[in-house]
Amino acid sequence: SSAYRLKRSVVLVGMMGSGKSAIGRALSEKLCVPFLDSDAAIEAAANATIAEIFARDGEAFFRERETEVIARLLSGEPCILSTGGGAFLAERNRALIDEKGASVWLDADLKLLWERVRHKDTRPLLRTDNPFQTLSDIFDVRQPIYQLAQLRVDVQPGASIDETTQRTIEV
Ligand code: S3P
Repeated sequence: SSAYRLKRSVVLVGMMGSGKSAIGRALSEKLCVPFLDSDAAIEAAANATIAEIFARDGEAFFRERETEVIARLLSGEPCILSTGGGAFLAERNRALIDEKGASVWLDADLKLLWERVRHKDTRPLLRTDNPFQTLSDIFDVRQPIYQLAQLRVDVQPGASIDETTQRTIEV
């Protein structure tokens, strides 16, 4: 049983590297509410990594699975749900998310995002000749869409997970 009764799920959206999984996990512990992660659920169902799914089946296939998984994960008890960075782009996903939960955008600046993703090799969209430019282009396209989230948390470059989690609770 949870100590805190959430009326609706809290759905974390935002760019790769914005901290959705880390903040989601910390929020879940603080509020004693289950933590779910759409990328992890897609990987578990496919028994493959996100990179493998992109390489084998393509991005469109991944996006179909993503919508199904988000619908499934939001059909149960309220939870903290961390989504993949592209999840909030599709209108059908936004409708699903805002029907069952409150969308919370973790808004971090490009410099911070790059610092966090540059050493990782887990993100197929950044496997290009110039991953910084790719990240920057994705950032520009998505910024106005993330603004459609119900709540926004300013992710400060120097802030700890605890501090950002606290800010998230306060919005
Ligand atoms: C994606 C972000 C990834 C993952 C996939 C696509 C995106 O999740 O869903 O690689 O379109 O931004 P993270 O935001 O957890 O990196």
